[in-house]
Amino acid sequence: MKQHPARLIAKKRDGGELSAEEIRDLIGGVVDGSLGDAQLGAWLMAVCCRGMTAAETAALTLAMRDSGRVLRHDHVTRPKIDKHSTGGVGDKVSLLLAPLVAAAGVAVPMVSGRGLGHTGGTLDKLASLPGYRTDLSAERFAEVLAQCGYAMAAPSAEIAPADARMYATRDISGTVESVPLITSSILSKKLAEGIDGLVMDVKCGRAAFMPPVERATELMESLVAVGQAAGIRMAALLTDMDHPLGLALGNALEVREVLRALDGDCPADLREVTLALGVEMLQLAGLEADAAKARTRLEQLWRDGSLRRVFTQNLRLQGGDPRVLDDHGLLGAAPHVVSIPAPRAGFVADVDPLELGRVVVDLGGGRRQPADAVDPAVGVVLRKVLGDRVEADEPLALVHARSAAAAEAAARRVLTAMPVGDAPAARRPLVLARRG
Ligand code: URA
Repeated sequence: MKQHPARLIAKKRDGGELSAEEIRDLIGGVVDGSLGDAQLGAWLMAVCCRGMTAAETAALTLAMRDSGRVLRHDHVTRPKIDKHSTGGVGDKVSLLLAPLVAAAGVAVPMVSGRGLGHTGGTLDKLASLPGYRTDLSAERFAEVLAQCGYAMAAPSAEIAPADARMYATRDISGTVESVPLITSSILSKKLAEGIDGLVMDVKCGRAAFMPPVERATELMESLVAVGQAAGIRMAALLTDMDHPLGLALGNALEVREVLRALDGDCPADLREVTLALGVEMLQLAGLEADAAKARTRLEQLWRDGSLRRVFTQNLRLQGGDPRVLDDHGLLGAAPHVVSIPAPRAGFVADVDPLELGRVVVDLGGGRRQPADAVDPAVGVVLRKVLGDRVEADEPLALVHARSAAAAEAAARRVLTAMPVGDAPAARRPLVLARRG
C-alpha cells in the first residue's frame, strides 16, 4: 500500500470522504494482503457507521471490479443484460426469466450464487438437474451464451477477488448491513460479467435481506445510481418478500415447479414477477420501448413453446439430461412426504417466509455452515396461499423429508407459520416500486 492504512481508516472513522485513489489503494491492500485482517475489519466498520458518498461507492465498486478478471463478450452481438435478486424464499425466477428473455433476443451471462441463510440460491437449484454443470470455464461459458442466448455459471475465483475477502470479513464482523458495502459487493461482480445492463430485483419484507421498505428502497436507489455511474444501463424493481414466491420451497421441488411452468402451469405470483423483470430487461436491451408490448411479446414466447425450447437448448449445452423435462421423477424424491391438515375451517391468515425458509434449511435443503452438503429433494410445497379459503383437515402444505422424525418436526413448524383465521387477508402488490 502506498499510504499508511491507519490514516485512511481514521479518515473514514472521522466522517471524511476518501478519494478514488485512496480507495484503490485500500482495495489493492485487500487483494495483496498488505491490509491486515484487523485493518480490513476496522475500515469496514468505519464505512458501516459513517457511510459513503455516491462517488466513494462508485470508486469502491470499480476498484473491486478491477481487482480480478473483467469478462468481455465481444463475439455476442445481442445486448447483454443480466438480472440479480437480493434473495428470497421460493425465488426461482432466474430459471424462467433467462430463457424467456433469451428467446426474445437478449443475451444473459448469468453468474449465480449458492443459498445464503434462509434464502435459496440458483446454483443449488440447478444442481438438482441431473448432469447440469455450472462449473464452466470462461471459454465454455462464452460458447453457451453465444449458442442459446444464456449461460448460468458459478462465480469464478478470478472475478472480483476483493469481494470474496471483504464478504468473509463482513460476515464475521457485524458489517454486512451497509448499503455502500452491499452495493459495491453486488455490482463489482456483475460489472465483471461484461454486461451492458442490469435489472435488480430488490426484495423487501420479512424474508428479504433488507426487510423494511425504506432500507430496501435506499439499497435499490444506490444500486441504480452506482451502476449508472459505472457506465451500464440499470433498472430496479422493489418486490415483495413478505410471503414466499410460488408454491415450492426446496431445490428439486422448485425445479419441478419451473419445469411445469415451462408448459404454462405456473403460480400467478411467480409468473407476475418473472414477466415484470422480463419487461425491464427487454426495455434495457433496447428491444422494446413500450412496456405493454414487451409484456405481450414475453407472454407469447411463454405460450408458443419458445421458452421451453431455449430452456432445453441450454440444458443440453450445460450437460443436463433433457429426459427430465418429461420425467420429473429424475429430479429425485424425498422418502417421507407428510400432508399438513388445516386445524379448522377459515382463511389462511399468514404464510411466514422466514420461518418456512428456515424449515427448509433444517430439513437439509440449505446450509448452516458453508461446507454443508445440500439435500436437493427436501422442502415444503404449499397447497394454500395467503387469503385462501380452507376447510378443516384440508391440506395446507406438504413436507418432503429424509426421515419421519424430520417430517414431523417440520410439519409442526409449518402449521405455526400458516395460521388459519376468520377473515380473508390480501397480499400487498408484488411490485412495490421501480427505479431506473
Ligand atoms: N449479496 C452480495 O453479493 N453481497 C452482499 O453484500 C449482499 C448480498
